[in-house]
Amino acid sequence: MSGIDPRKHRYYSQAGLDQLAEVMDAERPAPRCVVEIGSGVGDSARTLARHAGTDSVTWSIDPYRFGRGDAFLAEFYRRTSPHEQVRKVVQVRMGSAEAAARWPRMCGELIDVLHIDGDHASKAVNDDITLWHPHVKTGGLYVGHDWDTAHDGVRRAVTRAVENGWLESLRTWPCAGVWAARRADR
Ligand SMILES: C[S@@+](CC[C@H](N)C(=O)[O-])C[C@H]1O[C@@H](n2cnc3c(N)ncnc32)[C@H](O)[C@@H]1O
Repeated sequence: MSGIDPRKHRYYSQAGLDQLAEVMDAERPAPRCVVEIGSGVGDSARTLARHAGTDSVTWSIDPYRFGRGDAFLAEFYRRTSPHEQVRKVVQVRMGSAEAAARWPRMCGELIDVLHIDGDHASKAVNDDITLWHPHVKTGGLYVGHDWDTAHDGVRRAVTRAVENGWLESLRTWPCAGVWAARRADR
């Protein structure tokens, strides 16, 4: 991480952000409660917030534990600032599992959209899906990044979640690296 300039860095391609925007725009009614795991430099949070409902809040979870975490967090705030015409974004500097456990006291609303782009290891993605599952409304949208050959853990965890009945109606856009599914009534 230390050799990367956070001001120039992008995790998401423009094709990925366009696909994320399209998936958000198709949601009816427009999402009000959006949570993302993995704030990074703020590109996905900015897109989610811009394409959520006018009265929405986007909660963006990331502990920024790595070496230059503070610099990446500063870039997150720059890309999601109100000057960028972004609706309300709240950054929570915490890991996904801890935030999921605290969600009932932190907000408590049922989540319309859960965006997963944190730790990409299969077990971590599986934990993101299952630990947040009680807080996502039935039929709510799960959407995530890095559905590609370089991130086998993402594909394995999401596919298993469908097989095990946590998720349904899986759609994938490998060229954009985006996947989306619905919370099943498990
Ligand atoms: C690929 S980047 C996210 C990119 C971001 N979505 C964007 O558009 O800039 C992955 C991020 O996940 C974060 N992360 C790693 N483990 C995490 C965890 N357990 N909970 C939440 N975030 C985590 C990392 O700190 C890193 O910033």
